[in-house]
Amino acid sequence: MASRWPVDNEGHQPDDDEQGRHHRCHSRTRAHVTEDGEQAALLEPPRHNVSVPEILLGVTGGIAAYKACELTRLFVKAGHEVTPILTPEAEQFVTTKTFEALARRKMPRELYPHLVEADLLVVAPLSANTLAKLAHGLADNVLTQTALAFGGRIVVAPAMNSRMWTNPATQANVELLSERGVELVGPEPGELAEGEHGLGRMSEPETIFVRCEELLATAQELRGKQVLVSAGGTREPLDSVRFLGNRSSGRMGVALAAEARRRGADVILLASNLAVSPPAGVEVVETATAADVAREALALRDVDVVLMAAAVADYRPAESVAGKRPKDREAWALRLEPTTDVLAELAGRRRNGQILVGFAAEHGEAGLERARAKLAAKGVDLVVFNDISRADVGFDAQDNEVVLVSAQEERRVEKTSKTRVASAILDEVARLLDRR
Ligand SMILES: Cc1cc2nc3c(=O)[nH]c(=O)nc-3n(C[C@H](O)[C@H](O)[C@H](O)COP(=O)(O)O)c2cc1C
Repeated sequence: MASRWPVDNEGHQPDDDEQGRHHRCHSRTRAHVTEDGEQAALLEPPRHNVSVPEILLGVTGGIAAYKACELTRLFVKAGHEVTPILTPEAEQFVTTKTFEALARRKMPRELYPHLVEADLLVVAPLSANTLAKLAHGLADNVLTQTALAFGGRIVVAPAMNSRMWTNPATQANVELLSERGVELVGPEPGELAEGEHGLGRMSEPETIFVRCEELLATAQELRGKQVLVSAGGTREPLDSVRFLGNRSSGRMGVALAAEARRRGADVILLASNLAVSPPAGVEVVETATAADVAREALALRDVDVVLMAAAVADYRPAESVAGKRPKDREAWALRLEPTTDVLAELAGRRRNGQILVGFAAEHGEAGLERARAKLAAKGVDLVVFNDISRADVGFDAQDNEVVLVSAQEERRVEKTSKTRVASAILDEVARLLDRR
């Protein structure tokens, strides 16, 4: 029966410790392919106790596959361990031997458990076909199986004909991947393989490499930190079936929770009626109403970082009717009462070193002024200002454009995916933690 583990060039199988490691220290002898294709022991001595990032490099079938050779070379030159995983279609365009020689690693022919422990999975180029498979969870080759089992960061660099890229099916798949935190680099406009011009060209290997390096640098940034994130919109009951709510989908908060998790934090997500699925690997506490958010957030007030991204009701009905209020000809007058200001309460009881981040969903430039005022009034470290007068960003949209307002500076994050915005917010949080 075939072994579940790759046998290295000395015929030994990785031990339990290697299987279970997280951020590995490599001391293995690495395999190396000679010019005539034979495996041979690498002449350089094995490295001991050096933490080396592990990168899985997926390559799919397209003309740009040859560019992945250069990407492999850049990763190896930077001192990373690269495991190439070519789809059977990619092997029609480039040879496995080239990648094995550049990476000095054998290509796995089945899904080995240690693969999913790597620090980063990069798929470059990503074909329309594999993009669709990743979006829908297909697992019909080693690359798609690895991607499905992989819990870490995934970076993809799509490359395809511009009509394939702009097709609504591809765009819907891109949205799905983006929503789940898969990082897209490109595609870019330019000359395509068929001699046409358009959007669909793979980003240059150097661009992909630089983004991967940035992501690797933050991989363990929040390790050992507890991060509390609130996401979604609360619903304040009027009776047993009706409520006062808002349009928040929870995408921004979910993106923050996922990004904090990817940076190594222990994440607790207060989920208020989410329209999207919470990310894997975080603890989820359902908080349907403003009172639920207040109770849970205050109970967890000792965490290192609090990101209050949920749209929590400022007012709730003073009385809620038991059962369903029957329809009649009378007007239904509501009296609303203020809810607990959770952020201000947390700020009032904060412990040393804790970072508090609030969100301000306001209209237009005047709203930015109110966000600045909120920073001082609530005593928080950072306010993320969201202009909700625009339909293309913010509430219930895929993208966001924000201004990060802190006492020291203001930083504008131009319109981009909520995953990228979450990354910018956590970069700022990391800076604030460093200053503590
Ligand atoms: C010459 C040639 C070039 C191709 N280039 C691309 C491409 O750039 N992007 C793409 O999505 N598909 C391209 N295709 C189609 C893919 O190879 C095809 O969809 C294949 O099934 C992809 O398999 P994979 O995703 O498993 O690697 C090309 C096909 C041929 C024959």
